[in-house]
Amino acid sequence: MEKVLIFDTTLRDGEQSPGYGMTAEQKLVLARQLEVLGVDIIEAGFPSASPEDLEGVRAIARTIKHATIAGLGRCNDVDIEACARGLEPAEKPRLHLFFGTSQLHLDAKTGLSEDGALDLIVRSLRFGKKFFDEIEFSPEDSTRTNPDFLVRTVQAAVDEGARVVNIPDTVGYTVPDEYRQRMLMLKEKVKGIDDVIMSTHCHNDLGLAVANSIAGVLGGARQIECTINGIGERAGNASLEEIVTAFRIRNDILPFETNIDSSKIYGTSQLLSALTGVGVQPNKAIVGRNAFAHEAGVHQQGWLKDRRTYEIMTPESVGAPPAKLVMGRHSGRRALAARLNELGHPLGGASLNHVYDRFLKACESGQALDDDELIALALDNKPPPNPRYSIYMVQASAGSVHPATATVMLQRDGKTHVACALGDGPVEAACTAVDAITGHPGRVVNYELRAIGEGRDAEGEVALRVSMAGKTFSGRAVGTDIVGCSVRAYVSAINKCLDVLDEVKPPQVQAVEQPDDAPPQEARA
Ligand code: KIV
Ligand code: ZN
Repeated sequence: MEKVLIFDTTLRDGEQSPGYGMTAEQKLVLARQLEVLGVDIIEAGFPSASPEDLEGVRAIARTIKHATIAGLGRCNDVDIEACARGLEPAEKPRLHLFFGTSQLHLDAKTGLSEDGALDLIVRSLRFGKKFFDEIEFSPEDSTRTNPDFLVRTVQAAVDEGARVVNIPDTVGYTVPDEYRQRMLMLKEKVKGIDDVIMSTHCHNDLGLAVANSIAGVLGGARQIECTINGIGERAGNASLEEIVTAFRIRNDILPFETNIDSSKIYGTSQLLSALTGVGVQPNKAIVGRNAFAHEAGVHQQGWLKDRRTYEIMTPESVGAPPAKLVMGRHSGRRALAARLNELGHPLGGASLNHVYDRFLKACESGQALDDDELIALALDNKPPPNPRYSIYMVQASAGSVHPATATVMLQRDGKTHVACALGDGPVEAACTAVDAITGHPGRVVNYELRAIGEGRDAEGEVALRVSMAGKTFSGRAVGTDIVGCSVRAYVSAINKCLDVLDEVKPPQVQAVEQPDDAPPQEARA
């Protein structure tokens, strides 16, 4: 097996993309984790970009002992000197110089001719050698660079002593076979190329960054530049976790190994999300929350018999939490029985059928049931002991003028009850209105709101726990209206609380006539 070096650029290409900015302190935390993960090279930043960037690079260079620390610079003395200052404390420093070599970049950015660009590159490499033993050179936009000029550029870099030559697909334009051919072409035409390391650096504009990186390795590259969670400019860079796992799982046809400790992958991904506040898309390969979740009944059945039917790797192998069966409307009877069994409630025969029917009913709103709710179903084969509330309408208003107000209509036994309340915010106001109707105020002991996906129209998931009469019950709801979701989650938890009370008060406000125009809302009970 051949070794492929992992060059992580989360702290440079990743950090420079919108929403992923980190403080110097946060960068250091991530750099430490990258070292634990086993990356060979950490690109710590772009020291000439700002004094803070330079300080961030210096702090990482001072702290990290095993990995090589790279700093990025353009082909000018100021950038090279900034890299020298930033990387001065590093045990293993590397200068990473780049210059746009495609005709488009030459015309639009520098106005240099090909010969003029080559002179500048050579001059910069010579200047860089005064400070660094190890230099990497990147002809930016390599995949749109005239192949003959690319050969001349790479030849010049090799002749000037660059130890690594990177072939960036800066705009995510290439496709796997073309990229592999480009590597092979350079291998064939550049003298002395076998003495340097060729590197891939692929962006994901066509969703091909990982495939292209692997193709680049098949063409002779032995370093891959990539990022955690695939973050990076525009559509991102090649994702570290996907590449490393592809090598591990498809070793039969990809005989390459890396120094990455796969069991640290998930933790590193989570750490990046926590530091930046940007979650991972749920269906992201390897590290997404759904990467090891099975909901379809047929899949669940196969998976229960032999996990390999629908899993090519175990979640444990990448440090992710154990696989889970999502208990939603696509789940089959057997999966429900298996989950209940795991939760300590073995059921079979008629009682399983009965619980399964109620389970399907509870999933009608499209939401999956959490463990508490499954246990409640299993414990309770009979109709709920006490009457339950469902939400008819929630209307809240909040803004810069306090307090917030909310009007809530709940139904019980076919009658509608309405209450209005004030609160510090709309959620508090609406929950207070619920309490005014039920007469059984709940104490929210835990409230979590999480965006599912990104953007202003992302859905929110509310998960909360309510304590009443010495017991705690959970509620959960998903939707774009986060106040409505909060009330649905709250009412769901309150209903579970009421089930265990010996005596439930009647609604504390008079029933009103049900308005015709209010949209009914589901509160799963
Ligand atoms: O995408 C790119 O070309 C880069 C270079 C600076 C390596 O990030
Ligand atoms: Zn890049």
